[in-house]
Amino acid sequence: MSEQMKCKKEKHLKKDDMLNLKDNINRFDDLKFNRRAFLKTAVGASVALGLSTLPFSVKAFLGDFEDDRELVEIVKLEDLPKGSSVTFNYPSEKDPALLIHTKAGELKAYNSACTHLMCPVFYEEESEVLLCPCHQGFFDLNNGHPIAGPPQRELPLIELEVQNGVVYAAGRKIRHG
Ligand code: FES
Repeated sequence: MSEQMKCKKEKHLKKDDMLNLKDNINRFDDLKFNRRAFLKTAVGASVALGLSTLPFSVKAFLGDFEDDRELVEIVKLEDLPKGSSVTFNYPSEKDPALLIHTKAGELKAYNSACTHLMCPVFYEEESEVLLCPCHQGFFDLNNGHPIAGPPQRELPLIELEVQNGVVYAAGRKIRHG
């Protein structure tokens, strides 16, 4: 290859690959520029896809699949003495839920459909557990995790807020996939 042609070729290689596709001079260059342009596009698309799904990945990592901050009134705190519970529906009328005022004075709320076969779960005051009477499933009152019986998954947690003596549902966390 003459020196002039070599020079011409190097100059030619420095141009943008996509531009080179229109005036390439041989099959080798054609393959090279096509491959390079394809790789650039593929890498760019991968990065763009990764960035666009990042918020969902972070949410999934935190286990925070739902969080509508709309407050839904449940009950006045004075109407829910320690060691008692009240049923309500959240986030929709089709989702039964249970709010418990524990003997220690904490407020806990979960969707009350058992994660085994959907029977309603009750607050068992004496032993402070959540009980599903259908197949003797038990859940921990403090976190909604199954502790005995057939249920394998925890109950969805309902976040609470108390404002001016009224207890509100403020969001829901489904903690399993
Ligand atoms: S439905 Fe609750 S233990 Fe079976």
